[in-house]
Amino acid sequence: MIRVNHAGEFGAVRIYQGQLAFLRNKKETADKIAHMLAQEEIHFKTFDDMIKDRHVRPTVLSPLWNVAGYALGAGTALLGEKAAMAILPGTTATRPPPTPDLAGTPALYIQSPVES
Ligand SMILES: [Fe+2]
Repeated sequence: MIRVNHAGEFGAVRIYQGQLAFLRNKKETADKIAHMLAQEEIHFKTFDDMIKDRHVRPTVLSPLWNVAGYALGAGTALLGEKAAMAILPGTTATRPPPTPDLAGTPALYIQSPVES
């Protein structure tokens, strides 16, 4: 479960990085994306610390998420602000930060509306 969440957070970070690279001149949208990126970076660090502490191997697909996440972000940004914003509810930034359950395993996220 940690590996899956780690991969998801990494992909989300790369999507927002790709979007931000092409939407920096759209201040309002860029600010929203930068905010979401900052949240994802915190989430990713949480799982990255867990993966290191527990000696869990990251997914072998990390290089794919690296490229595909950035390309997805860049691609939606190039389609326009609406396309870029349309994928926000599908990313993990819309979820609360990870909290360990009683067994110390990160709890599953529950989808929630986009934070403001
Ligand atoms: Fe997240």
